[in-house]
Parts: sequence; C-alpha cells; structure tokens
Amino acid sequence: MQKREELYRGKAKTVYTTDDSNKLILHFRNDTSAFDGEKIEQLERKGEVNNKFNHFIMTKLEDAGIATQVESLVSDTESLVKKLDMIPVECVVRNVAAGSLVRRLGVEEGKELTPPLFEFFLKNDALHDPMVNDYHIISFGWATADQIEKMKALTFEVNSVLKRLFDDAGMILVDYKLEFGLDDAGNIVLGDEFTPDGCRLWDKATRKKMDKDRFRQGLGSVVETYIEVAERLGLKL
Ligand SMILES: Nc1ncnc2c1ncn2[C@@H]1O[C@H](COP(=O)(O)OP(=O)(O)OP(=O)(O)O)[C@@H](O)[C@H]1O
Ligand SMILES: [Mg+2]
Repeated sequence: MQKREELYRGKAKTVYTTDDSNKLILHFRNDTSAFDGEKIEQLERKGEVNNKFNHFIMTKLEDAGIATQVESLVSDTESLVKKLDMIPVECVVRNVAAGSLVRRLGVEEGKELTPPLFEFFLKNDALHDPMVNDYHIISFGWATADQIEKMKALTFEVNSVLKRLFDDAGMILVDYKLEFGLDDAGNIVLGDEFTPDGCRLWDKATRKKMDKDRFRQGLGSVVETYIEVAERLGLKL
C-alpha cells in the first residue's frame, strides 16, 4: 500500500491518504501532549509502542465482533486503517472516578462507579473539549439519535471486552475515550486509537498509574510503563 499525501497532522498522529481511496495510513509519532497541547514532549519509542498496542487492542475488539478501522500494521509506527468520516465527539466510559470527573464533581479519586458513567465531549481544542449531551449532538447535527445509541452500545461493549482483558493481566481499566466514524456504507465503526495515551490503567495490587497520567503528572518512566502494560497483555514489543 503506497502512502500518498498528508491529510492531517494531529497532536500525536499524522494521517496519510493511500492509493486506495477507502484506506488511510495512521502514523503514530513520538509526540506526547497534555493540557490541550500546553505540555508537549518527544518520548522515544512511544510511536512504535502505541501503534503496535493499538493494533493489538483493535484486533481483540474485532475478534469480539466489534467493527473497527483495523486493517494491518505497515511499519513499526504506521497502520493501514479504514477511512472513516469521523463524528466530532469523544465517547468516555468511567469505571472508577479519576481525572476531570474528580475536579468537576468533587468526588474522591478511586471511587468505583456502579454503574459505569458515560460522557460525551466535543472534539474542539480551542474550547478545551467541552462536555456535551445527546441534545447538543442532535441539535447541532454532529450525529443522529440512532448513531448516538449505537456509539453508546459499542462503547459499553468495548468496556466488557477490555475490562476483562486488563483485569486478567492485573490491571484496572479506570476510564477511556473512543472516537467513532462512518464507513462508506454508513456503518458506525471504531476509529482513532486505543492506547495508554487515551485511557487510565492502574495496577490492581499497588494502584500504580500505567497510562498518560505518568506524563501529565511528571511521574517518569512513561514509555517503559506502556511497554510493561503491553507485555502483561502478552504483546511482545
Ligand atoms: N480511521 C480514521 N479515518 C479518518 N480519520 C481518522 C481515523 N482515525 C482517526 N482519525 C482522525 O485522525 C486524527 C488523528 O490525529 P491525532 O489523534 O493526533 O489528532 P488530535 O491532535 O487528537 O486532534 P483531533 O482533535 O483532530 O483529534 C484525529 O482527528 C482523528 O479523529
Ligand atoms: Mg487524537
């Protein structure tokens, strides 16, 4: 598959067109950002680790019957994916209280959330990704009511697959964000990435943070810890 031109350069990935108009190449860079791009650093090997991690997780989800963008790994840092018309919202599920939820509602970090929470955030850096609800999404035409229901159902399906996967490997899936898009037939398909950059993972026994909070909070050993997560899942890097 030949890479053609650069379509979009985000904070962590660059998207390229290919000679197949229905497929794109995602290039995972070493750039790591937090606080709406205020803190940016290059972390050696992060692009490679996230590319392989994402491919591994999306393949697991695909095997569980969830439609994803996954096609193939094309290099250490690049994946071939289905081209999607992305819906501009992030779908977040929270199994345990952490991050912005703790700040927003004053709840204690680590509180188990039963049932898990679901939140939508608008993808808009300039507005700091504000939280929105179904009514905003429908009224502004970002997605239909049917598409919203489908995204919620798929996000919870992902939760049952991944909570189990991480639990079996001694980790707690605290929260995560997903992005969906429409394929050429109009089906809702999981896109973007699932990596330790976009979720929270804690060690079950020690509650050690094993995700991008290590970078946000300056805890060090960021990529080393991502590699530890991958290895616990049985992914050789
Ligand atoms: N399968 C796909 N088809 C089309 N676009 C995709 C696909 N997967 C991810 N994208 C888009 O590619 C971009 C990936 O870049 P990155 O994640 O670095 O962006 P970002 O800095 O988070 O910015 P953005 O706010 O645009 O997501 C995102 O805009 C994402 O929505
Ligand atoms: Mg992104």
